This record gives sequence, C-alpha cells and structure tokens, in this order.
Amino acid sequence: MKVLLAITGASGLAYGTMLLESLRALKQDVSVVISSGAKEVAKAEGTKLPKADYGEYDFNCPYASGSNPPDAVVVCPCSLKTLGEIANGVGNSLITRAAEVALKERKKLILVVRDTPYSLITIRNMETVTLAGGVIMPASPGFYGKPKKIDDLLEFMVARVLDQLGIKHSLSKRWKA
Ligand SMILES: Cc1cc2nc3c(=O)[nH]c(=O)nc-3n(C[C@H](O)[C@H](O)[C@H](O)COP(=O)(O)O)c2cc1C
Repeated sequence: MKVLLAITGASGLAYGTMLLESLRALKQDVSVVISSGAKEVAKAEGTKLPKADYGEYDFNCPYASGSNPPDAVVVCPCSLKTLGEIANGVGNSLITRAAEVALKERKKLILVVRDTPYSLITIRNMETVTLAGGVIMPASPGFYGKPKKIDDLLEFMVARVLDQLGIKHSLSKRWKA
C-alpha cells in the first residue's frame, strides 16, 4: 500500500513515529512529510523526528497530483490548523494538497487529530472532512487494556490506524476480545 504519512505540529509526535516504524515493519510503501510546526513541537517534546522524504512545500511530490495519488494519506498527529486547512480546501502545502487529492480521488484520508477541548469551529471542520469521505481519529487511546507505559497507549492508536488502512498487524492484540 502506498501511504503518505504527514506529521504535523500537534502534541503526540510519537504516535506518528511509531506509526511510521510499524508501516515500515509491515513492508508498506510509506513516504514521510513533516511540517515546520511539527519541528517546533519536537523541540518541546524531545522527540526525534524521522527523515522526511519530501519537503513541506514540495509540490513535485507525485502525491500532490491527482494523476498519481497514494492509496492513503495519514496525518498523525494532525494539528487543528492542518485540519482547518484540509476542511476548507486550502492546498497550500504538500500535506494539505495531498489530503485534498486523497479526498477528490476517493482515496483514504485519516486525520489523527489532537487537542482538547474542541471549539465549534473544530467540530464543524471534523464534520466537513467526515462528510467529504475522510476519517477523523482523535488521539484517544483506550485504557481498558490496562496500559503500563506510554508505548502501550501509542500502540493502541497505531493499531487502530492500521485497522482503518486495512493492513493486517499483530499490534495491540491484548486489547482484542
Ligand atoms: C509545544 C506545542 C504543542 C502544541 N500542541 C498542539 C496540539 O496538541 N494540537 C494543535 O492543534 N496544535 C498544537 N500546537 C500548535 C500548532 O503547532 C500550530 O498551530 C502550528 O501552526 C501547526 O502547524 P502545522 O499543522 O503546519 O504543523 C502546539 C504547538 C506547540 C509549540
């Protein structure tokens, strides 16, 4: 599966880095783009970001065009700013353009949104993306599996994203009935 993984400036960058490791381990064709917002958050969170395959404004990336869309665009984590741009058709960066392409070409678009609480504007933006065919997956890991460490919580979300992508995996098995 061809996946564009976009990492943006919301808290929880480790969700994105673990998702990347998992997609690579599962032999998926994954490309990475990182926003400058994510680089700022990385300083605060002390997260080591992966190497990007494409620059934030690299519209020469094949996935910026409807002629060559990926099978899925995943924004993980997804800031409210990027959500707002996607919901309003603002394709002014590779991330928002690729999301726009995914929607118009009827490919999978998954936004792992993180913030709390949500304003009405955010809720409406999430509604708009959902009605357009995207999937909003708030970074809300469950606690019923009795997580012991942060990695358990990250794994929970990564497993749910892989489920949405239809990629078989063995993560988070202990949370399954
Ligand atoms: C330490 C830090 C944490 C942040 N956490 C969030 C967050 O959880 N959710 C969010 O929507 N924005 C958060 N922001 C604000 C975004 O990074 C900011 O709106 C940025 O413009 C997003 O741009 P991007 O989507 O292009 O990365 C945070 C910023 C910093 C510096």
